[in-house]
Amino acid sequence: MCGIFGYIGPREATSIVLDGIQKLEYRGYDSAGIAMINDGVLCHEKEVGKVSRLQEVVSAKNWETNLAIAHTRWATHGRPTQGNAHPHLDTQKKCAVVHNGIIENHDTVRHLLEKRGITCISDTDTEVIAHLIAYLYKGNFLRAVQRALPLLKGAFAIAVIHHAHPGEIVCAAKESPLAIGIGKGEMFVASDSGAFLKYTRRAIYLGASEVALLTEHGVEAFDAQFAPIEKKREELSHSVEEASKGDYQHFMLKEIHEQPQTLQNALLARFSRDYGTATLDNLNFSDEELKKVERIVILACGTSLHAGMIAAHMLEEKARIPVEVEISSEFRYKNPIVKDNTLAIAISQSGETADTLAAMRELREKGARILGICNMQGSTMAREVDSCLFLRAGPEIGVAASKTFTSQLIVLSLLSLHFARMRQMSQQEGVLFIDALTKLPEQIRQVLLGSGQIIEIAKKYAAYENFFYLGRRYMYPTALEGALKLKEIAYVNANGYPAGEMKHGPIALINEMCPTVAFCADTYTYPKMLSNLMEVKARGGKVLAIAPGGASDIAAIADDVIWVPPTLDELAPVASTIVGQLFSYYVAKERGTEIDQPRNLAKSVTVE
Ligand code: F6R
Repeated sequence: MCGIFGYIGPREATSIVLDGIQKLEYRGYDSAGIAMINDGVLCHEKEVGKVSRLQEVVSAKNWETNLAIAHTRWATHGRPTQGNAHPHLDTQKKCAVVHNGIIENHDTVRHLLEKRGITCISDTDTEVIAHLIAYLYKGNFLRAVQRALPLLKGAFAIAVIHHAHPGEIVCAAKESPLAIGIGKGEMFVASDSGAFLKYTRRAIYLGASEVALLTEHGVEAFDAQFAPIEKKREELSHSVEEASKGDYQHFMLKEIHEQPQTLQNALLARFSRDYGTATLDNLNFSDEELKKVERIVILACGTSLHAGMIAAHMLEEKARIPVEVEISSEFRYKNPIVKDNTLAIAISQSGETADTLAAMRELREKGARILGICNMQGSTMAREVDSCLFLRAGPEIGVAASKTFTSQLIVLSLLSLHFARMRQMSQQEGVLFIDALTKLPEQIRQVLLGSGQIIEIAKKYAAYENFFYLGRRYMYPTALEGALKLKEIAYVNANGYPAGEMKHGPIALINEMCPTVAFCADTYTYPKMLSNLMEVKARGGKVLAIAPGGASDIAAIADDVIWVPPTLDELAPVASTIVGQLFSYYVAKERGTEIDQPRNLAKSVTVE
């Protein structure tokens, strides 16, 4: 987590780096800071809160400089205070460091520094880096950073400046992303190349334990043994999409309403109705390879994990391939058994989730091939996998995932169709599947037109502090996703559960103060779901049902019903989820929480 941005070149640097970290706010936004060198003096400023707060303070200073580094923070070690915000400086304020990641052995380094009379003043793991570099500095800035790095354990990316080297930024990466943008007579460094895309499209990415020296004339890169290395220059192809809220009050609401279009984008030119099959041209695996796949392991976290759970059902049911869905943060510490013909599918909107990257690297080491499902071109995942299917959802600014989840479902549905048609699915079944898929954008338009009813229902339920979210089969992960949205943006406790499990314990919590949101659009398990909801009602629980139009018997049980357009069970999660998104959004609005940047969260989780 955290975003780093640095600039060196002829332009005024402070506004460039502040703009840069604002683009990186999705990585964290609890405090921000900047450091620059002016007439040989290292100046810095830090503020608690968003980058806009720092911008106000810095603009009053009229700083002029050609070199600056900046940081937006998501606290890992130490509360979000001014003292803990980055940059961190050494005791004599000679060098400043911005850092993304975790220094795992910061305590050991801190004790070593203390023995040499150097005391840290913040609670962060980062501060030791600044002291260490200053301590090891003997006139050669680059060498001091290179000598400090082997003493630091963990996964991290850093950018450092030194008052005696006003024409240099030294940066380094160890298992955390760091992109260097190569302009004409100017250089950029950022946690994500998207942040400097409007200035340059040429970039290099630092790999494990590599260090780079940036001057306005160019970049020199070195490996862990200090030997110069030639890095491959990449031409960035993704577009500069300036995000704006338009007429919407929040990015999240805009992104929810974009879904008819994003679903269309995800489908575009990816199927042939005539053959009843998917045409995934960018899939870098031959049909022979895919036919041989005997087992699939899906790796993901959070919302992407829920998409993976839905896909697992679909792949098993339609393509008859055994699928395991693994929570990346747990899986990375397993010793996975990888037999021949195992395919791993790593799902990540950002392509930067540390746990998912680590889990997929572990599987690759053991011989599995990796297919990525990702929204961000140029991300670490997109660069490391054997093949990547992109969501084409455009930038998602709201921290809680909305449109990218439904795009993941579309891409995974197409993938399931592709596998299924290679195995036992008939052409006719394939055509029916495609017809249902292509109806989704219009069906979602209808759901969005029903927002008025959802607003009223959200008002009715906004004061409750505890919810159950229930579903069966395809609706179980849908319920988990619905509950996650409510927790994230409305700060309301919502327990996602398989409806059939309620009587094994959780039903003890049901009372009139704990409503149930019931996802009923899985027609195969619908009758069972009705029985489970009767059990809830019998214990005084309120029920808000999300059910397919035409299933009228639910109206007699539930206190409120939101209808969704009927579709195939495996595609029903799309519309039901969007109802869940709108419900969470309007509950959050009613409760006055911060919707686009909820407390304690970050869009890209780059630490484990
Ligand atoms: C929830 C949410 C998170 C992410 C999770 C994985 O709304 O956004 O749960 O889904 O952090 O992120 P990615 O998909 O970027 O790997």
